[in-house]
Amino acid sequence: MWAGRFAKALDTKADDFNSSIRFDCKMYKQDIAGSIAHAQMLAAQGIITQEDCDTIVGGLCNILDDLNSGDLPFDMSCEDIHMFVEAELTRRIGDAGKRLHTARSRNDQVAVDVRLYLRDETAEILTLLKQLIEAITDQAEGNKAVIVPGYTHLQRAQPITFGHHLMAYAMMLLRDIGRLQDAVKRMNVSPLGSCALAGTTYPTDRRMEAAALHFDGITRNSIDGVSDRDFCIEIMSAFALIMMHLSRFSEEIILWSSWEFRYIELDDSYTTGSSIMPQKKNSDMAELVRGKTGRVYGDLMTLLTLMKGLPLAYNKDMQEDKEALFDSIETVKMCLDIFAPMIRTMKVKTENMYRAAQEGFINATDLADYLTKKGMPFRSAYKIVGQIVAECIEKQCVLDTLPMEAYRKHTELFGDDLYSEISLETCVAKRISEGGTSVSSVEAQIAYVRKELEA
Ligand code: ARG
Repeated sequence: MWAGRFAKALDTKADDFNSSIRFDCKMYKQDIAGSIAHAQMLAAQGIITQEDCDTIVGGLCNILDDLNSGDLPFDMSCEDIHMFVEAELTRRIGDAGKRLHTARSRNDQVAVDVRLYLRDETAEILTLLKQLIEAITDQAEGNKAVIVPGYTHLQRAQPITFGHHLMAYAMMLLRDIGRLQDAVKRMNVSPLGSCALAGTTYPTDRRMEAAALHFDGITRNSIDGVSDRDFCIEIMSAFALIMMHLSRFSEEIILWSSWEFRYIELDDSYTTGSSIMPQKKNSDMAELVRGKTGRVYGDLMTLLTLMKGLPLAYNKDMQEDKEALFDSIETVKMCLDIFAPMIRTMKVKTENMYRAAQEGFINATDLADYLTKKGMPFRSAYKIVGQIVAECIEKQCVLDTLPMEAYRKHTELFGDDLYSEISLETCVAKRISEGGTSVSSVEAQIAYVRKELEA
């Protein structure tokens, strides 16, 4: 391409080292779409003839078809996807092909391609996120009255409904959707026409090509237009958060599937056995999602480190953005895709959850509240309940089975309504505060999430 300036060809290893077609060939559709919009703008502005434009667009459409069908293999000796498409076009249509790169640089070209690629991929990821939230919400609906211990410090804390616990994840993933949509909004402006860095002397119409590519507007500074990869970093940050949420969920799934908990059983199709221990049923999918979270964090760190200290405008360092970006996209998609059916098909062992809820004094707060409602200051009630719990541990019983005489030794405030007031069912049913664990609160959360998903 630049033979005019150089006396000899690039060293073979240097050529290999410099080349990105191996991975940026993923963006061929976006590259061709950008080129078609550019050619049409050039013709509309009288910069190239309509005839040349038609030949270029026809040629690009044929290349696209041939790449889609697999008839045209990528030429790995080309430096990148942009060079490949242009060279193939010129090979097919001759001189008209050589006019396509007028008023354009690979610097604005690649900035457009990555934005278009990310826009397509995030649309898919948004759909996958919605599917996962739907699976979680459906499970929550089916388990909205199932009582399970809620934990803090991984110690049994207060009774909650399993539906309530699941809906916490729905809320996190809903925020992930918002974060992605927000990042896409900021990303969806066209840098095309920034050219190498300074803009161009040709009478281009940047807004026309931006509209043709369904951008919401154009970047306002051509140097920023070609130097900016903030949008990659924003979206990869959103990916990192998605993975963090999936990883926390995975950790719980792994715990709940253990023989110690036995709260859930994953479907056979999402678990594996051991090569030596015949009894094993391992939550490999959840473990892998937890593990792959590290990759996506690493990809984000790659981009942050890559961009740190780069002078304006384009630097070849920026070619290194793609592998990390593509890796995190693929990883997030795979994880979301496996997670939704894994959640949908998991069996909930309600009896085990209930048994665990009966064993951990998780109605102790409600016992203290009982005394407080009868007039005792909360701190005094808290102290008495602590003593009662210690007594139960010694007598190997629970609050629900400690006899009334034992209670009354502490205070006369205990009456016949005590046992029904501290039953697990009452503890849950009375937590009607918005966002709380009662069935009606969980139903409201489910309705909210479903409405948000429709919107
Ligand atoms: N393959 C390059 C990249 O991915 C395209 C832009 C190259 N521009 C340049 N002036 N060398 O960043």
